[in-house]
Amino acid sequence: MGTLDITFIHIAITLLVFTHTKSSTEASTHRNDTLKRCTAHERSALLAFRAGLSDPANRLSSWGGDNCCEWKGVQCSNTTGHVVKLDLQGPGCDDSVLGKQVLGGNISSSLVGLQHLQYLDLSCNRFGDTHSTDITWLSRLSSLEHLDMSSVNLSTITNWVSVVNKLPSLVSLDLSFCDLSTCPDSLLDSNLTSLESLSISDNSFHKHIAPNWFWYLTSLKQLDVSFSQLHGPFPYELGNMTSMLRLDLSANDLVGMIPSNLKNLCSLEELFLFWNNINGSIAEFFKRLPSCSWNKLKTLFLPINNLTGNLPDKLEPLRNLTRLDLSDNKLTGPVPLWVGQLTYLTDLDLSSNNLDGDLHEWHLSGLVNLERLSLSDNSIAIRVNSTWVPPFNLTELELSSCVLGPKFPTWLRWQTNMYNFDISNTSISDMVPDWFWTMVSSVQRLNIRSNQISGSLSPKLELMRASAMDLSSNQFSGPIPKLPINLTILDLSRNNLYGPLPLEFGAPRLASLFLYNNFISGTVPSSLCKLRSLQFLDISGNKLTGSLPDCLAYEYTINMTSLSIRILNLGNNHLSGEFPLFLRNCQKLIFLDLSHNQFFGALPSWIGDKLPSLAFLRLRHNMFCGHIPVELANLINLQYLDLACNNFSGIIPKFIVNWKGMTQTETGEDPLATAMAFGTNGTMEYNEQLYTVVTKGQEQLYTGEIIDMVNLDLSCNNLTGEIPEEICTLVALNNFNLSWNALSGEIPRKIGDLAQVESLDLSHNELSGEIPTSLSALTYLSHLNLSYNNLSGKIPSGNQLQVLDDQASIYVGNPGLCGPPLTKKCPETDLIPAAPEDQKDGSDNVFLLLGMSSGFVIGLWTVFCILLFKVKWRIVCFTFYDKLYDWFYVQAAVGLASLTRKTDTRS
Ligand SMILES: *[C@@H]1O[C@H](CO)[C@@H](O)[C@H](O)[C@H]1NC(C)=O
Ligand SMILES: *[C@@H]1O[C@H](CO)[C@@H](O)[C@H](O)[C@H]1NC(C)=O
Ligand SMILES: *[C@@H]1O[C@H](CO)[C@@H](O)[C@H](O)[C@H]1NC(C)=O
Ligand SMILES: *[C@@H]1O[C@H](CO)[C@@H](O)[C@H](O)[C@H]1NC(C)=O
Ligand SMILES: *[C@@H]1O[C@H](CO)[C@@H](O)[C@H](O)[C@H]1NC(C)=O
Ligand SMILES: *[C@@H]1O[C@H](CO)[C@@H](O)[C@H](O)[C@H]1NC(C)=O
Ligand SMILES: *[C@@H]1O[C@H](CO)[C@@H](O)[C@H](O)[C@H]1NC(C)=O
Ligand SMILES: *[C@@H]1O[C@H](CO)[C@@H](O)[C@H](O)[C@H]1NC(C)=O
Repeated sequence: MGTLDITFIHIAITLLVFTHTKSSTEASTHRNDTLKRCTAHERSALLAFRAGLSDPANRLSSWGGDNCCEWKGVQCSNTTGHVVKLDLQGPGCDDSVLGKQVLGGNISSSLVGLQHLQYLDLSCNRFGDTHSTDITWLSRLSSLEHLDMSSVNLSTITNWVSVVNKLPSLVSLDLSFCDLSTCPDSLLDSNLTSLESLSISDNSFHKHIAPNWFWYLTSLKQLDVSFSQLHGPFPYELGNMTSMLRLDLSANDLVGMIPSNLKNLCSLEELFLFWNNINGSIAEFFKRLPSCSWNKLKTLFLPINNLTGNLPDKLEPLRNLTRLDLSDNKLTGPVPLWVGQLTYLTDLDLSSNNLDGDLHEWHLSGLVNLERLSLSDNSIAIRVNSTWVPPFNLTELELSSCVLGPKFPTWLRWQTNMYNFDISNTSISDMVPDWFWTMVSSVQRLNIRSNQISGSLSPKLELMRASAMDLSSNQFSGPIPKLPINLTILDLSRNNLYGPLPLEFGAPRLASLFLYNNFISGTVPSSLCKLRSLQFLDISGNKLTGSLPDCLAYEYTINMTSLSIRILNLGNNHLSGEFPLFLRNCQKLIFLDLSHNQFFGALPSWIGDKLPSLAFLRLRHNMFCGHIPVELANLINLQYLDLACNNFSGIIPKFIVNWKGMTQTETGEDPLATAMAFGTNGTMEYNEQLYTVVTKGQEQLYTGEIIDMVNLDLSCNNLTGEIPEEICTLVALNNFNLSWNALSGEIPRKIGDLAQVESLDLSHNELSGEIPTSLSALTYLSHLNLSYNNLSGKIPSGNQLQVLDDQASIYVGNPGLCGPPLTKKCPETDLIPAAPEDQKDGSDNVFLLLGMSSGFVIGLWTVFCILLFKVKWRIVCFTFYDKLYDWFYVQAAVGLASLTRKTDTRS
């Protein structure tokens, strides 16, 4: 799993690169008033059309005067004065998915009055909310050449193909994002002999990719049927209508009527089939491309399909390809040599396949126009001569998980123009060369993680243009220099960095900072308080000392009272002082880990008011003391509380019943998952590290599971008094540890209510009385420890209790206990009838298990989106949330939307 968010971001960028946004062509051309006067008839048609619209932003305010040729979006002919163009494209095409200035309502048939209309663009608005069921009037606009209704809701329209087929002048048709669900197999009597550009992407056709009517079009240059739920192998023998029709309509008598020289798709230049389920072998796919168009084909865009097999050895005819994207398929074998002969190629993306073999300079030496190259996530070894100077000047290079090392590849030295550079996990084991920092100075997204690159971080780092940098899991040493000014994400974790943190970070927009597992020493500088955008900070596992800055100075002088931090991990350092005061300004804090430090003093009373979102609190192995403050009762989201191995005294408070995160098994939203989904994310490895939690008596790597982990660990303190009955309301607990305290009294009788508990440790206390029989109801229990108390009587039996490991040690140190698994026999009179809980049978548990695992799946969904799916899948994952405001989410959404929406300006 080498994927990470930097990759994610630049994929979004890549998508942007593959698209062009429409230039808005509102009528603004110079006018000749003497000729351009619209007719009264056309004027009233436009007014009637407007009457059916909603126009909250008053975009059509100019629609009033006599001369409708001057209205916004309307254009008339120089010669006849008739309305020839109506362009009301909404802003949704260009900026975010939810443009504000959209038109809505119903598209009325009164547009039929514009009989001379050649150009109609209603795209990127919110038309169709009221579900018009009829667009047949469109077919009467027989002069129409350009029709763009993308994003208009046409979900109720089934006859759309026969409607547009009545428009013989049509050159360009865009019905992407229209919610169409029908797509006829054929269009025998086609009028669409001029159609050059067809985009019907982002609809849900749910059918085989062939037969389909669009394959029979004869003049098409651009075809986009991306993301439309098409499946099956690519159609047979395009470019020869006769053979296609024979195949597809063989049951039909019409075959005899078809001229034998009819050619279809012979002008095809661009084919977009992004994210369908096209299968079959890639070699066969190339063969089936219309042979009459081979010289003309420029773009083949087929990422995220199911194409298999080796790339063909020869591909002579497709000389004019400029973009070839076969990423996220199931291709195997080596990269063929012909790739290097595609002189016009600017974009080559073969990432996320199962390609292997070696790639030499002669695979690349002909690619003089190459700008973007991605071979990531294959098993390709790149073995080029160390003296080779590439003929290209790349802007993007992604080679993640290819083999480049062990030496630092020298040919990269000449790529000084890149903005996206990823050589993560490429087996480089070398000193970072001096020229590296110059080479990457223009890079905005830099990823070299998971290599064995050594050397120190150059002071030149500060001058980089980078906004995201991942240098983690390498062997960089020395101090951290001042950071680039535009940086938002920095991961330097798992290196050998030493020395203090920089006094000034120099990156005011920093949102994620991961420095864990290094040897950083000194104190945490107060400049941290200036990082107002910081959401994720992990400096755990270093050698930091001293107390944390209180940020008071900044609070008063800069009038900035809140920090954005959601996840803060300072664990495993030598930090000291009282509970950090600056946390009062961290109202959004969800996760706080101060464990394994030397913090001391009582927990402050403001903790309950100032940290309302806190769900995870880890303070284990410090020297905190005093009572568990009553203000903790306000932390209703708390689902993970670890106060172990401190000096807390007093009783276990009854207000624990307030902690919704522990009392409710179905808590809907998962706070940590939400934080990660909504925040500027860390990396895969970061999250793994975050999930290291203490349970079952040892540190365990709980990859991904902490978010579902409900934990109460108060062990190893000086708590006294009885275990309150209220503990039995914490029914969501997975881990419950009160060991090594001075608790007395009996174990609460209803302990069996804690149905989700996997680990229960009450050892090393002064508990007395009998072990409640309800304990045997804990069917998930895998670790139990009741040793070294004063418990007495017969040990209950049944269910899970019988299968726990090391039975005897569970009960050791309780002289009064008797019965199996101990050898000491109970007196006959001690026999007690079984409690009702004991009679619960397995059927309930099956139900519980199902309930829990489905909750688990739903809870993890957001995180899986981020962590586990391949980068391109993640983009769509993210679009499932409609309230993400992060910079890179917006980039991704816009990238995807415009990618799949736009074809007419592709060139
Ligand atoms: C408008 O058209 C008339 C008639 O063709 C012509 O004489 C006049 O110069 C044009 N005016 C402009 C501003 O183009
Ligand atoms: C209309 O007039 C402008 C300016 O004279 C010219 O550039 C344009 O081509 C004309 N358009 C048509 C459709 O004749
Ligand atoms: C082709 O277009 C003409 C003119 O609009 C129309 O009369 C005819 O019905 C169309 N043919 C089909 C098969 O729709
Ligand atoms: C088209 O296919 C038919 C049937 O397979 C074949 O007879 C004909 O020769 C082909 N025509 C061309 C131009 O390839
Ligand atoms: C590829 O095929 C597999 C197995 O049939 C399927 O699960 C997967 O969704 C397909 N991929 C795409 C992109 O449709
Ligand atoms: C394709 O490339 C050849 C040269 O290999 C060139 O002569 C021809 O014009 C190109 N065709 C197109 C449609 O660009
Ligand atoms: C690398 O290129 C140089 C100069 O072209 C050549 O002399 C040398 O033999 C090449 N080395 C390898 C391993 O191919
Ligand atoms: C690459 O582009 C940069 C910036 O435009 C330029 O300075 C450099 O000379 C170019 N290198 C090559 C090999 O074309």
